[in-house]
Amino acid sequence: MKRVFPPWTNHLRPLSAMAVGGGVLYAALVVTFGFSPWAVDVGYQPKQPVPYSHTLHVGQLGLDCRYCHNTVDRAKFAAIPATETCMACHARIRDESPKLTAVRESWATGQPVPWVKVHDLPDYAYFDHSAHVTKGVPCVACHGRVDQMDVVHQAQPLSMGWCLSCHRNPGPNLRPVDLVTKMDWSETAVAAAAANNPSAGSVKPSTDCSTCHR
Ligand code: HEC
Ligand code: HEC
Ligand code: HEC
Ligand code: HEC
Ligand code: HEC
Repeated sequence: MKRVFPPWTNHLRPLSAMAVGGGVLYAALVVTFGFSPWAVDVGYQPKQPVPYSHTLHVGQLGLDCRYCHNTVDRAKFAAIPATETCMACHARIRDESPKLTAVRESWATGQPVPWVKVHDLPDYAYFDHSAHVTKGVPCVACHGRVDQMDVVHQAQPLSMGWCLSCHRNPGPNLRPVDLVTKMDWSETAVAAAAANNPSAGSVKPSTDCSTCHR
């Protein structure tokens, strides 16, 4: 009888059995955790190099998100502000505060402040800010009340189940595009605006796998 595989591959049999078993186990884990909407990092809040507070700058001073994250409506990524943006005020305001030491060092050396990323999707998932923001999906739907966060934390699971739950029924989350950065809308105001939003009916997010896995 002609052998399909050379004899030395006999040693590999137990290994391939393990690989098949592992594959089944992996698939089971993917189904259990990947498709469960609540499996991931809600509340993740790394320590930052500067005690920058959104409560103060957004909630109290009233700065718009786009003053600092100025690419959100044009690009995939929401830019983290350059040191220049901070120094526009902090060259004069609190210019000797020890809390701003890392900002002044960055200004002097030209090295960016080493901010720690809070939200991070796996690389195999594709996300685009501008596609959402320009269709009236507000920051608060995905990031929560950032204007009340002294330290930013992850407010939503960012899991596939969570993405899909809105892609299947975006209506209740949509707003007129000029209000996407406004944080403090009540549920009723959101529902009323969604009902009266003339463009909302044409917004139909896709649930095809290739939308988010390309
Ligand atoms: C004065 C500048 C400034 C303004 C205005 C501002 N931010 Fe930020 N934001 C920052 C800086 C600096 C960081 C990085 C440090 C941190 O995470 O706290 C950041 C971080 C974030 C993060 C976490 C990013 C990550 O690493 O995943 C989110 C989300 C965010 N901002 C949302 C908002 C929203 C929503 C608004 C408007 C309601 C807003 N920001 C307004 C400066 C700003
Ligand atoms: C539009 C002006 C403005 C911009 C832009 C701005 N800040 Fe501020 N920041 C302020 C004001 C006003 C205060 C409060 C000062 C006070 O309490 O007297 C403040 C306070 C702070 C404090 C607390 C300082 C202390 O000693 O208590 C930190 C830290 C800070 N800002 C970081 C940043 C960072 C980082 C950026 C850039 C991402 C930034 N700020 C951009 C106006 C600004
Ligand atoms: C539909 C949900 C959604 C909306 C709406 C949204 N974001 Fe995000 N945001 C995300 C996700 C998901 C990530 C993580 C992206 C990644 O890791 O690739 C993120 C990341 C960020 C970051 C970190 C930098 C980056 O791009 O990874 C900042 C800053 C941020 N968002 C700010 C904002 C602001 C400001 C708004 C409103 C103008 C906004 N986001 C609206 C889901 C959203
Ligand atoms: C709160 C509602 C909401 C959530 C949550 C949400 N999306 Fe969307 N998404 C939308 C809407 C609305 C559109 C725009 C649909 C249209 O253009 O008709 C969209 C469009 C997209 C697009 C299409 C972009 C393009 O190139 O046209 C991608 C990709 C996408 N979303 C990925 C994601 C991912 C990944 C997540 C989870 C991390 C997510 N979305 C969470 C509402 C949402
Ligand atoms: C609206 C965006 C979106 C769509 C549509 C989507 N996915 Fe996903 N998917 C995600 C995101 C985001 C993650 C990463 C979730 C996480 O971090 O746990 C993911 C994760 C996965 C994973 C890995 C799970 C794990 O934990 O390892 C698989 C497998 C997957 N998706 C398959 C699919 C298939 C098959 C389809 C079509 C039926 C699909 N996805 C459609 C956004 C999407």
